[in-house]
Amino acid sequence: MFTSCQTATKQTQTTPTTPTTSANEIPGRKWWKEAVVYQIYPRSFKDSNGDGIGDLRGIIEKLDYIKSLGVDVVWLNPIYSSPNDDNGYDVSDYRNIMKDFGTMADFDELIKGLHDRKIKLVMDIVVNHSSDEHEWFKSARSSRESPYRDYYYWWNAEKGKPPTRYSLFDAKHDAWKFDEKTNSYYLHIFSEKQPDLNWSNPKLRQEVYDIMKFWAEKGTDGFRLDAFQFVAKDPNFPPFPEGTELSLMNYSMGEHIHDYLKEMNKEVFSKYDVFSVAEGAGRNMQDAHDLVDEDRNELSMAYAFEPADLGKFGGYKLTEMKKVFSKWDKEFAEKGWLSIFLANHDKARLVSVWGNDKPEFRDYSSKMLSTFLLTMRGTPYYYNGDELAMTNGGFEKMEEFRDKPLFNMYEFEKSKGGDLTKFLERAKFEARDNSRTPFQWSAADNAGFSTAKPWIKIAPNYKEINAEAQEKDQNSPLNYFRKLTKLRKENPVLVYGKYTLLDEASESVYAYTRELNGKKWLILLNFTDKEATANTGLDVSKAKVLLGNYAESSKDGKLKPYEAVVFELN
Ligand code: NOJ
Repeated sequence: MFTSCQTATKQTQTTPTTPTTSANEIPGRKWWKEAVVYQIYPRSFKDSNGDGIGDLRGIIEKLDYIKSLGVDVVWLNPIYSSPNDDNGYDVSDYRNIMKDFGTMADFDELIKGLHDRKIKLVMDIVVNHSSDEHEWFKSARSSRESPYRDYYYWWNAEKGKPPTRYSLFDAKHDAWKFDEKTNSYYLHIFSEKQPDLNWSNPKLRQEVYDIMKFWAEKGTDGFRLDAFQFVAKDPNFPPFPEGTELSLMNYSMGEHIHDYLKEMNKEVFSKYDVFSVAEGAGRNMQDAHDLVDEDRNELSMAYAFEPADLGKFGGYKLTEMKKVFSKWDKEFAEKGWLSIFLANHDKARLVSVWGNDKPEFRDYSSKMLSTFLLTMRGTPYYYNGDELAMTNGGFEKMEEFRDKPLFNMYEFEKSKGGDLTKFLERAKFEARDNSRTPFQWSAADNAGFSTAKPWIKIAPNYKEINAEAQEKDQNSPLNYFRKLTKLRKENPVLVYGKYTLLDEASESVYAYTRELNGKKWLILLNFTDKEATANTGLDVSKAKVLLGNYAESSKDGKLKPYEAVVFELN
């Protein structure tokens, strides 16, 4: 057994490497391929004004911390004006800052602070839907003659009930909401406070491009397009084939999506040095390529959910994880570019889902997972707090959760007589609030996040897991993460190198090589709490260890629980 005390005193070794691959030997280099993206959930990062809610000035306070991580890009979850039905994913004014988060002057200071530190900023663009409190929607719902009526989808009630459409967040999963004032239904694929914008209307599309240009002019370096797979719809709403009405396949990647992206690319992306990524990568590989291949002028990189979605209640199979990651890597080896991630604000915590959050294994497994994320081909998206091995939030009862869609799902479960105890058990493990608890800065009151009671509970382990303690410990997950970003930065083999999976059948070890211009590195990762053997056929006894999460890295192919080692073979 390993104690957390051992964890604190004798882990981690690194050997400096000299970059040998020169820039001009690698075709297709791009800054955004070489970047490590750090995702910040502003509501939970740092509260500067004592209202229990994280804000922009809080992020400004922590800019040096962010810089110290060695990340290159910050992706901010939405910060625009919003009534917060879905924590900012319901925008009521796209050109303003949410009151809870601060002012436009704060934003300007934040972007300058990031740029001064050579960190780029990615904004989350939420344009599948707006808030029902957006001026466009207020006008649209006021009269059928409103100039904004066609910014949304309506179904006039005199035509009868609209054809079934599925809502992900509605308590009845019904995407049509009857609106008495104009005797019509409006469409909402998410909650009824998130009416869908009508992308078949060129005026609406132009509004969106103007909004994006507004942020690009302010210096934004990239855009993440929220729920974008859902934007293209047939405005006539033909019925879906019987029995498939609820299948999400019917809802994503509608006919004109590529036209819209090409138009957006021409209007916005091509005019600035920005990168673009959409949430999701379509229904299949062809869709994914069509979204991101260079010659198509649509998006910069794919953000595919298939790998991360394997991590769920009840566990996952390592062979399955390897298969899926390897499949995506192979598909994009020659063309296009991928994002690498296992966690984000819609998922539970990295170490709780993919590793082992018991105190004796938490740090080891967290470092092992960080090693994985930072040594794969593709742009890593790393979620704030994972660098500390922050765990799931320790929710015990429904009242402690804050995510409104979760309560809608609970109501739905109740309405069909479902097992509510099981629902709660699942939520404790996989609800997205788990990754939205306040950032654990210190062992002080409210984890150093705020002087007031935070908007959501703090994970009970903050006295043990926090940034202040980890700063002082050379072997902490935090300092290990810094070593990883440095290693990746200095070695293009980790960014561009060919990936080859080894020991495919092992349910314990994930082993792969990365190769570029004569360099060959081997990464060994034990995903279990037991000793495990890596059958790679490669002799590592004389190989150089570049990074490992134990004081002594194993060089005989036998890996200690959750051990991670990066070897230089030649
Ligand atoms: C995806 C976002 O990541 C999620 O947080 C949000 O609830 C939905 N889109 C709706 O905008």
